[in-house]
Parts: sequence; C-alpha cells; structure tokens
Amino acid sequence: MAKTVLLTGSTGTVSSALLDALRGSADLRIRALVRDQAKADTLRAKGAEAVVGDLEEPDTLGEAFDGVDILWLLTPASALEPSMGSNAIQAAKRANVKHIVRNSAIKAGHDAPNRNGRLHALVEESLRASGIPWTILRPHYYMQNLLSSAGSVASDGMLYMNMGDAAVGMIDGRDVGVLAARIIENPGPHAGKTYTPTGPESTTMAEAAKALGQVLGKPVNYVALPPEAAQHAMLGFGLSRWFVGNVVDYGRAYSEGWGDFVTNDFKAVTGRDARSFKQFAADFAPAFGSSLASAGRA
Ligand SMILES: NC(=O)c1ccc[n+]([C@@H]2O[C@H](COP(=O)([O-])OP(=O)(O)OC[C@H]3O[C@@H](n4cnc5c(N)ncnc54)[C@H](OP(=O)(O)O)[C@@H]3O)[C@@H](O)[C@H]2O)c1
Repeated sequence: MAKTVLLTGSTGTVSSALLDALRGSADLRIRALVRDQAKADTLRAKGAEAVVGDLEEPDTLGEAFDGVDILWLLTPASALEPSMGSNAIQAAKRANVKHIVRNSAIKAGHDAPNRNGRLHALVEESLRASGIPWTILRPHYYMQNLLSSAGSVASDGMLYMNMGDAAVGMIDGRDVGVLAARIIENPGPHAGKTYTPTGPESTTMAEAAKALGQVLGKPVNYVALPPEAAQHAMLGFGLSRWFVGNVVDYGRAYSEGWGDFVTNDFKAVTGRDARSFKQFAADFAPAFGSSLASAGRA
C-alpha cells in the first residue's frame, strides 16, 4: 500500500525541489501543507494533494496530518521556528506518524554562533524526544542565498555579500531536496542518522562572482560587506530584525572560516555528485540578469 508523505514548506526553495524529486515515486502519496488556498492549485498541478494549515496554529494541523506515514519537516528561518517545529512534532505524534525527516541547519547546536543554529538545536531536541524515528539533515549554506544580490549583479555587475574572504562549502538547495527525496523513499536505513550535505567544493564569494561573470558574459565583482553595512542595508529593505541579525551572525562566522568544509554525505546517500556552483550559475543565469542562458531548474 502506498505511504502518505506530508511535505511542509512546499512553496519554498528546498521543499519545491523535493516535490519535484519525489514525482514518479510510485509507492508514495504526496500531500503538501499550505497556508494559502491560492497556492494550493500550483502544488496540485505538481501532483500533490494540498491541505491548508499553519504551523503557528496547532489547531489547524489535524486534517493535514491525518493518515500521514512520513513527515518532511521544514520550517521557515524565523524566531518562531521552535514553536512551529514542536507544533508539527506534536501533530505527528497524535497522527501516529512513522518517520520524520527534519530540515535543520549546518552545525545546529546550543553553542552555535548564530541564533538560527541555536533554535534548530531546540527542534532537534524535541524530535529526538518524540519517540518517532527521525533523520536530520543539516544543510550547508544554500547557493540560492546569492539571489539576494541578483539585482545588483544584473544592474552593475556587483555581488554584495557579508561573507568576508572565506571559502564556504555551499550547496544548491535543489540538492537538499534530492537528498531528502532519496531518504523519504526508503527511510528505514536512515533512522537515527544526521547528515550534513554540502556542495562538491568550498568556494569564496570572489570565485562565485567570477563564475557568475563567466556565464553572464560580463565582469562580476564581489564586495565583502562589513556586518554593520549589511545590517543597515537589510533593515532598509524592510527585513525583520531577527532575520537581519541572523544573516549578520552567519556572515561573521563564515568570514572566520566556520563554513570552509565539504562532506561526502550527499553522494553517499544519492550516489551522485552534488551540483557545483558553476552549474548553479548556469541554471540561474536568467535570475542574475542574463537573457541568453536557459533557466534549467531541475
Ligand atoms: N538559507 C540557507 O543557507 C540555509 C541553510 C541551511 C538550512 N537552512 C534552513 O532551511 C529552512 C528554510 O528553507 P527554505 O529556504 O527552503 O525555505 P523558504 O524558501 O524560506 O520557504 C519557507 C516555507 O515555509 C512556509 N511557511 C512559512 N510560514 C509558515 C507557517 N506558519 N506554516 C506553514 N508553513 C509556513 C512558506 O510558505 P508560504 O508560501 O505560505 O510563505 C514556505 O513554503 C530554515 O529552517 C533555515 O534555517 C537554510
């Protein structure tokens, strides 16, 4: 009998890639939790049943969790992440869910140098205490984060990031979705395991800018924003203080080399190489202002 998988975060970067990667998995019924009925149609067009619910409101989750065998638990980067995580885990316990695959973050821990990593540690702890078999993914920095500077790359050939000169083992968020799909298709061997998926190489932002320049056919220069300048710019865009502070926390740590590593976890589970930054740059060239390259979103 087909198992029912509930996906959270399906309109976002990683879970939309996961939904794509699960299409055609014959033994799975895919259900997506959505906050907004208007977005449900898009997910249904991708082959998922869509049920409305809000992770901030436990009373809205019953229908979505009913009959679910496997939960993919992704919550948005927010100060409310522990609350949303525990609401989902509680709903999963009530629904007798058999396995939870959790999207956490690189080096999550109570002593992480960033507020997001410390909040993820709380959700990981709730998960381990739940009694439900689990698998935790702690992805490295998403390549898609560079899209925050796509406008200035397109207009002026400038990549503004707050990552200093350090290299980072960043991963294409689509590959986090691919990894999650392989685990969800056969969760048993992955129970109790924690993976830290990274890209195939550690890359500086200057190298990333060069790779973007090559696919765009123009020079792209990296500007390393100091923490105060990054904070000022992001607050000016209207981003929340928590979110801005979190990006600044990460930028400080990465600038000191905290993210300069890669692992073999993606290949060990999927059997294939993770996408390189060059591949990401080619696929997302239109978003960075090129009308020449194709948008090869996999
Ligand atoms: N950025 C990085 O480099 C990085 C690296 C490692 C880990 N992470 C972690 O990855 C996660 C974010 O993943 P992502 O970038 O793929 O997400 P994303 O693109 O920001 O999408 C967030 C998703 O969460 C949904 N959502 C927001 N509030 C919700 C609520 N109250 N109830 C139900 N759903 C809600 C959104 O749905 P709507 O369409 O309704 O808004 C959307 O589908 C965070 O936990 C972050 O810490 C990030």
